Amino acid sequence: LTNLNTSKWGKEKFYFLNEVDSTNNYAKKLASEGKPEGTVIVAEEQSAGKGRLSRKWISAKGKGIWTSFILRPNILPNFAAQITLVMAVGMIKALEKNLGVSAKIKWPNDILINDLKVCGILTEMSAEIDRINYVIVGIGLNVNQSNDDFPDEIQDSATSLKICLGKEIKRVQMLQVILEEIEKVYNLYLEKGFSEILDEWKNNSCTLGQEVIVKMPKEIIEGMAIDIDSGGCLIVKDKENIIHKIIAGDVLVRKK
Ligand code: BTN
Repeated sequence: LTNLNTSKWGKEKFYFLNEVDSTNNYAKKLASEGKPEGTVIVAEEQSAGKGRLSRKWISAKGKGIWTSFILRPNILPNFAAQITLVMAVGMIKALEKNLGVSAKIKWPNDILINDLKVCGILTEMSAEIDRINYVIVGIGLNVNQSNDDFPDEIQDSATSLKICLGKEIKRVQMLQVILEEIEKVYNLYLEKGFSEILDEWKNNSCTLGQEVIVKMPKEIIEGMAIDIDSGGCLIVKDKENIIHKIIAGDVLVRKK
């Protein structure tokens, strides 16, 4: 990354790995050894890429951007869910800036183009009751896959930048813009707080104002996604007008 225009991210510590189990795991190890905020790990291939809710994340060699960052935000652990939303806004900006693509965010962390998932974000944290030790943000962006590269189970729901734009995309340049845009929104978040970023999140959301089905381990809730609260939770109003606050779950947006 020769012309990286960030102040910190990827400048102090940048790890480029050919193969790793998961860049998030690698980042955790580095974070527990004390590596600073802004440390970036990128891998060509992950043998055990992790998705949310203990799913696998397919991370074929050279096809995508598989990256993790170490953050050390001075916020209370309760607010850590905000970080995922901040990162999603950064990704939307990066895709817009580098490729002119207008992508949408599905709560909490999916980035979609034409209703198909192109990117996922996995946030993990180590914290005491009143203090965050570190947050690891892992981003998986499908870049140069063809439809056949995706396993059958996800062919109907996944896409790549190449499929959307009809041409190969330069991964190095894309990564550079991601680091720049994510650093910007993250710093804005630390300086000005969550509300401005939340507004941007809402403007780019395909979840709010929609009828949704939310699947959680023990229950399923159907209703209207009416808001996101300051903790990053999704607020859903069901048919009986009961308000549900969703911390984690799988959201299906009902087609109209
Ligand atoms: C999801 O949508 O479920 C989140 C997917 C996150 C995938 C990325 S790829 C880089 C980083 N390392 C991992 O093992 N997972 C994240």
